Amino acid sequence: MPFNRPSLVGNEFDYIRQAIEAMHISGGGPFTRKCQAFLEEMVGVPKVLLTTSCTAALEMAALLLNIQPGDEVILPSFTFVSTANAFVLHGAKPVFIDINPETLNLDERQLERFITAKTRAVIAVHYGGVGCEMETILEIAQRHGIPVVEDNAHGLFGKYRGRFLGTWGCLAAQSFHETKNITCGEGGALFLNEPGHIERAEILWEKGTDRSRFFRGQVDKYTWVDVGSSYLPSDILSAFLYAQLEGQARIQEIRKRVWEFYQRALREWAGRHGVGLPTVPAHCQQAYHLFYLLLPSGGARRDMIQHLQRRGVNAFFHYLPLHLSPMGRRFGGKAGDCPVTENISERLLRLPFHNGLSEEDQAYVVAQISDFF
Ligand SMILES: Cc1ncc(COP(=O)(O)O)c(C=O)c1O
Repeated sequence: MPFNRPSLVGNEFDYIRQAIEAMHISGGGPFTRKCQAFLEEMVGVPKVLLTTSCTAALEMAALLLNIQPGDEVILPSFTFVSTANAFVLHGAKPVFIDINPETLNLDERQLERFITAKTRAVIAVHYGGVGCEMETILEIAQRHGIPVVEDNAHGLFGKYRGRFLGTWGCLAAQSFHETKNITCGEGGALFLNEPGHIERAEILWEKGTDRSRFFRGQVDKYTWVDVGSSYLPSDILSAFLYAQLEGQARIQEIRKRVWEFYQRALREWAGRHGVGLPTVPAHCQQAYHLFYLLLPSGGARRDMIQHLQRRGVNAFFHYLPLHLSPMGRRFGGKAGDCPVTENISERLLRLPFHNGLSEEDQAYVVAQISDFF
């Protein structure tokens, strides 16, 4: 049983054919604009720019915030490498903060003591699409004049205190990678919540040129005006993505059913064997991105992976602590820096979770898990 399998909503082939027939297959075409407008309207963001990945969107965020060598960026150690790399690429030092053991999100109670005169950004990762404590994080960051970027790779359409994730920070990065709820294979988006960032973001996105202004007829030729790169996806990918976005209500409904099935079916077993299940605070409306078990020990997790593998079920660990990775250690990371991250990372096991998972498949997974102890 695969851990992830992408599924079609219905119009993907049609829209790709339309993009090809219209002969606009480069970036910034009609489907790219439709996806951006859809997200702007649905989530309530002043400007969305599609990118080739969440990693690319995070790199754009680093450029927009003028991250320079020697700057410090605070982020959880329990995250994907891109959350750090996008900023390290520009010479920043990643400052790793531990997570809250309940939500596995950046522990806002520790944030203030990591802030120094060199801090230039705080990156909030909404793990599993469950919102970080954004009110507290923003209050602390604003008091110190530090921008907050959301790494919302998991959290599209999730909400925190009734407001969409991705609308809280000045910038937010989305992922449409094959493993995400809504996908186009490889893709992402940058949400620009501060109007002051929009014009420069369009320039960075278009290789450092004012081509977007040219297309709007605001200048009569376009030229090199800033640094930049090529961050925009082909309209063929945007065509696929638009079909998925149109199906978002159905996709989210399926994923809610999958998540709730696991929770219902495993609750009693988990309680009996000291296994943890995801915690979603009442004020967080989660995005239903993933489901995990927290086994009592690293050894139990290893044995469970092998047990499930023998029965044809692929289950995976998630995130080795970044501060203990070879790169993290080059920045001074050492064992004991983030004890909750180190502990959780050894015990967490993600279960198969995708839009095509049937209740029958899930019942099989649950039966094999229940057979373990
Ligand atoms: C929290 C987080 N941020 C960023 C990324 C990178 O996403 P992408 O593959 O779209 O660059 C991932 C990938 O899964 C992720 O989990």
